[in-house]
Amino acid sequence: MIFTVAIDGPAAAGKGTISRAVAARFGFAHLDTGLLYRAVGARVRAGEEPGAAARDLRPEDLARPDLRTLEAGTAASRVAALPEVRAALVDFQRRFARTPGGAVLDGRDIGTVICPAAEVKLYVTASAETRAHRRWLETGGDPAEVLAQVRERDARDMGRADAPLRPAADAVLIDTTDLSIEAAIARALDEIAARLPSR
Ligand code: CDP
Repeated sequence: MIFTVAIDGPAAAGKGTISRAVAARFGFAHLDTGLLYRAVGARVRAGEEPGAAARDLRPEDLARPDLRTLEAGTAASRVAALPEVRAALVDFQRRFARTPGGAVLDGRDIGTVICPAAEVKLYVTASAETRAHRRWLETGGDPAEVLAQVRERDARDMGRADAPLRPAADAVLIDTTDLSIEAAIARALDEIAARLPSR
């Protein structure tokens, strides 16, 4: 069975948690596409040229321990605005989406650009304040600075010319501002279960 679930949305909306739960529940392969951009960003911070780093991305780049920091997120969103970086990562993501048995990909442009024909498209969002608070619980630091970085990243991701962050026209919106993570996961699982072919 080829079955693709596309989960998009802004930073710290809950995409990762929902995607992992979906993968575990249905036995789908899961790709956190943000990790690809974070890994490219890390190589660029080390002095490489962005397009070359994206074309040469290796599995060990994705295993770096420092990809989850706020700085790595900012570096990711900078390189993610470059068309040659995005172009270098398209084929890998599209192949992954066709993993036999089903796949869930989370990111910014999965339902709009990478997999416009995905069987299920979810757009997971929450207020900037809620998302910044969640990110702050993970990273610590100055809460005002974390909120500023979330807003800056939203603006860059939504404002870029190539594959800007926006919901696909046929995406199901899940606003997690006032939803528990259990309730958000339940919404996502229901949407998918309703569209899965009967086996
Ligand atoms: O975990 P969080 O939502 O904060 O970030 P992420 O999903 O790891 O993505 C980091 C950055 O990579 C984002 O701010 C985007 O600029 C970029 N990205 C993208 O452009 N397209 C994707 N499919 C995934 C991430």
